[in-house]
Amino acid sequence: PPFSGCLLPTPLTALSYNRAHFSSKNFRELTMDKLKIIANGKLNGEITVSGAKNAALPLMCAGLLTSGTLRLKNVPMLADVKTTQKLLQGMGARVMTDNISEFEINGGTVNNTHAPYDLVSTMRASILVLGPTLARFGKAEVSLPGGCAIGSRPVDQHLKGLEAMGAQITIEHGYVKAVAPQGKLQGARVVMDVVTVGGTENLLMAATLAEGVTTLENCAVEPEVVDLAECLVKMGAKISGIGTSTMIVEGVNELHGCEHSVVPDRIEAGTFLCAVAMTGGKVTLRHAAPKTMEAVLDKLTEAGAIITTGDDWITIEMQQRPKAVNIRTAVHPAFPTDMQAQFMAMNVVAEGVSKVTETIFENRFMHVPELNRMGANISVDGHTALLTGVETLSGATVMATDLRASASLVLAGLVASGETIVDRIYHLDRGYEYIEKKLGGVGAKIERIRG
Ligand code: UD1
Repeated sequence: PPFSGCLLPTPLTALSYNRAHFSSKNFRELTMDKLKIIANGKLNGEITVSGAKNAALPLMCAGLLTSGTLRLKNVPMLADVKTTQKLLQGMGARVMTDNISEFEINGGTVNNTHAPYDLVSTMRASILVLGPTLARFGKAEVSLPGGCAIGSRPVDQHLKGLEAMGAQITIEHGYVKAVAPQGKLQGARVVMDVVTVGGTENLLMAATLAEGVTTLENCAVEPEVVDLAECLVKMGAKISGIGTSTMIVEGVNELHGCEHSVVPDRIEAGTFLCAVAMTGGKVTLRHAAPKTMEAVLDKLTEAGAIITTGDDWITIEMQQRPKAVNIRTAVHPAFPTDMQAQFMAMNVVAEGVSKVTETIFENRFMHVPELNRMGANISVDGHTALLTGVETLSGATVMATDLRASASLVLAGLVASGETIVDRIYHLDRGYEYIEKKLGGVGAKIERIRG
């Protein structure tokens, strides 16, 4: 078999597996499924948190940096992960999965440095193949991701950093075409103008194989960036300053394979905690990483929840109506933009008024009109939303245009009277693994209606 440590329950070859996989309906983003939710009182029990989508995607792309095998555990089986698998396979990498939580990526067979529009346009994180591909093969051609529902989301910092490392970059026919003279990037000092998670990850991966030392200034310090850096070190990269805003990378000639477990998803965990804060009850999250989500836990405590934590678990107990809390999103370790919509859902039914300010993305209040249709009292003024808590919401058919906005509508459905139908949940399927099963397991009445 092509992979000695084959992860499949039945030993298929990579080829037959791929065929079976791609003819299946695993790509949920293509479906028109809906969720039907009926309020069912308090939530009680345990939920296991999945690995973080936002860590898994860059980690998979790191597989392009080596001809060895990168074995990733605790990978969430999400539409975006499947898209990344398809992207890497399109470049010639061998990707094997048990379809439960493990992936083996072997970049030894990569024979194509092109990332096509049809995949990049469905998932912006595809831009993360640019840095590793350019660093290892001296060239890369990656479709430019367009804007998206929550904002314009440029990649200028990624390109600026790679140019500082000697890359010649042109934009042609919607593609970033990058070439490293003599096939190698050169170490450089790069100061990012804005703190960018993806930019930091792309440049970090590129720097591991550059000639000489790269200093990355104004780095993002999100736990997913740290997780990537730690995996790169296991692969043989020389990185110091991990988890700080300055990382120094001494380039090496080659990296090797390793085994790495993806950090728990702090956004998925935070979403379930918000659910309990709204419905009341007591739920323990297993396989969580409380140290990566202190700002969120502090806000839940402020809202009246009793939070207890261990190394890898969080218990939330809520016996009262939540109190409204003010939120201002900012880069880690401050309050994450990816939790803004879910906290708005909580504030909508909380006691009191609150102010929610979004500082990361310019258009991230798309959930507001939908929440208002369910009876919320929210007004938006520029980057700030003002909320007055209401006693009850009423179920409705709603739809969202992005992932976390969809999550906020599910949360609202858990406490609304009557039936809530959340439409277009392919957004939700991009970032939440088995959400209906996980919430159903602690007592929510939530069911997937196949589209
Ligand atoms: C990642 C996360 C996303 C999260 C976001 C912010 C992944 C796959 N996605 O997205 O869930 O909401 O971090 O925590 O990890 N910017 C520029 N120029 C650039 C790059 C970014 O101006 O070259 C701006 C963006 O428009 C945005 C801000 O910087 O306003 C932050 O974006 P960034 O941290 O790069 O987000 P992503 O990595 O795309």
